[in-house]
Formats: sequence, structure tokens, C-alpha cells
Amino acid sequence: MSDTAATLRDAPADVLEKYELYKRVADGGNGTIDFGLSREKVRAYKHIARDPSFYSHVRRDLVAVKLPFGFPVARTAAWAEVQCLEVIRAAVETPGFSMFKDSFAEIVDADRKHDDVGECYWFVMRAVESGVTLNTLNLAFIDTSHIYKAMPIGLISHIFLKLGAALEFLQEELGLRHGDVKDFNVMIRENAANPEFPDPVLVDFGTAFKADVDTGPSKYDRRNFCRMIYVLTERHTDNEKVCGCPGKHPEGWKEFVQAMKDDRKKTSEKSMREILKTFKGRTLGYKNSMQAHEIIHVRHVLQTEVDVAMDEEGIEDSEIKLSIFQEK
Ligand SMILES: Nc1ncnc2c1ncn2[C@@H]1O[C@H](COP(=O)(O)OP(=O)(O)O)[C@@H](O)[C@H]1O
Ligand SMILES: [Mg+2]
Repeated sequence: MSDTAATLRDAPADVLEKYELYKRVADGGNGTIDFGLSREKVRAYKHIARDPSFYSHVRRDLVAVKLPFGFPVARTAAWAEVQCLEVIRAAVETPGFSMFKDSFAEIVDADRKHDDVGECYWFVMRAVESGVTLNTLNLAFIDTSHIYKAMPIGLISHIFLKLGAALEFLQEELGLRHGDVKDFNVMIRENAANPEFPDPVLVDFGTAFKADVDTGPSKYDRRNFCRMIYVLTERHTDNEKVCGCPGKHPEGWKEFVQAMKDDRKKTSEKSMREILKTFKGRTLGYKNSMQAHEIIHVRHVLQTEVDVAMDEEGIEDSEIKLSIFQEK
């Protein structure tokens, strides 16, 4: 908990009254993110039996507290982000859209004292505990000692489908655009049932905006999404050249890559819905035909990356124990 002193110094008093902050996990462009727990819950944990499931129970309640930097423009962006996250939360809580619940940062609390001036000094989200972003996951594949240093096609397809559907929902159902779709703003949440298909979670709605028609800046999400997917596919192709093992690509893969390449440019007029409609069937096929050795490889890389991130930014059981029970 080496960063605690700095954290306490920076955080407003009212957030510290409600939350115990443990660790600064990120310094973003607009503010900082700290992991913590609600003090009310910490009090309640003292009465729960400390059996082997205790820490995993507590971990489910971990939160990520965003503290915008100390100038008005950062607080205004945070306020807009809160409005946006609340619209999303209300929508995904309705039964028809519950399948998108895990695709977006989930807001749980916010500073409402400065609503009249449209500023927000802090807000709280459910933590994505892995600390892994799509950017770090992609790099983790490059860093492995495995001969195949790129994300398998099945995993790229999964991310395309899951994130694409989330962006389509945002656009078509809520009339919102994220505004800054990039791999640093996509976090990877572990999926216990299918570890090879973790959930991509879209975070950072600080530059989101409302747009009813798909013109001008409204197209940025689609372009940025295609660019992001294209980067993953490019890495795949590059690796094949480097290791001299040109893969057997599934049918239609080349067209898919070409479309991502074209659609990342300004010239394309396609909407998210059209892109998904065109490639849904084949990417689902790629996802469902992931080979056993690829599944093992993905699970291994992801687990290693989560371990690294947890080592650097995560919270150990002993730290939770110390904060709840004041015991070393
Ligand atoms: N809910 C969350 N749980 C865990 N980490 C998060 C969460 N939200 C954001 N982060 C981490 O913090 C970083 C910065 O947050 P972000 O919202 O992108 O802020 P900024 O606007 O400053 O870029 C992200 O890239 C991600 O690594
Ligand atoms: Mg960001």
C-alpha cells in the first residue's frame, strides 16, 4: 500500500468518509483511479465468517474510484461521464438489455454536491479487478515465449462481436457515442465459466456525447473500433511473417481484415449495425472453432498477464485483512 499517503492527500474528504482507498491503479488523462472498498461494507465484513471464500467475497465488492484532476474542465468531464454512466446503468438494468451489463463500466456512486454547476469531484465504479486492458493483453501475446505471438482469430472475433454489439447498443438504443474508443479504454474482465473468452469492458466515458444521427464526429466510434480490431488482426499477420508459419486462415478472414482496414478510415459510411450484420456470422464461426491448443494458449497468456497486473497494482489478501481487521 505504498501509494496510500499520496492517495489520502489527493482525495476529497467526503469520498474518504465513505470509501477506504487502498491503491492508486492508474493515472489517466483526466484523473486518477484508486481501488477501494465502501466503509459500510468493511464494517459488515467483520461479522462474516473468515472461511476460505471470505476474500473472494470481499473482492466482489472492490470499487474503482475516479478522481478527476483539480481543475474545472476535468471535473466537468467527470460530471458528464457520470450522467452518461447513469443512463447506461438504467438501460442495462432493464431485462431486455441485461446482456450488456458486463460490457460497460458500472457506476455505483458519485459526488452530487456540485450538480448545480455541472462538476463532479469523484465517482465510484465496480472495479475491473484484473487491471488488464486490451492494450496490455495484446502486448502480452507478443511477449510470450510461445512461437505464436498474436491473439488467435477466435479471441479477436469474440472481442469484435462483444464490443461491437455493445457499441451498437450504445449508438442505436441510447443515442450515445463513446468518443474515445481505443484499447486503453477497454478493460478485460475475467470470465470464470469460459476463461478463453474474457469480457471486454468499455470504460472512460469522459468524452462521450449524444448524437442522434450518424454523421460527422458520430462516426468516430465506428472508425476507432475498426482501427482497434485491425491492429489486432495486423499483429496476427505480422507474427505469421516473423515466425515463418503462415496460418491456415478460415474462409472470409482476408475480407474481414480488409474491411476493418477500410472502415478505420474517414471515407467509409458504414454504421456499426451494418458492420456487425456483415461479419457477425463468420466471426461467430471463427470464435466457435477455436482449437484446443489456442484455448490453452489464451488461458495461459491471460492468467500470466492478470498475475503481473495483480502483482503491480492488485490488492493482496493480507492487505484486505489488514484494512478490515487491522491485523498483520
Ligand atoms: N472500473 C475500473 N476498474 C479498474 N480499472 C479501471 C476502471 N476504470 C478505469 N480503469 C483504469 O484506469 C485507467 C484510466 O481510467 P479512464 O477512465 O480511462 O481515465 P482517463 O479519462 O483519465 O483516461 C484505464 O485505462 C484503466 O486502466
Ligand atoms: Mg482513458
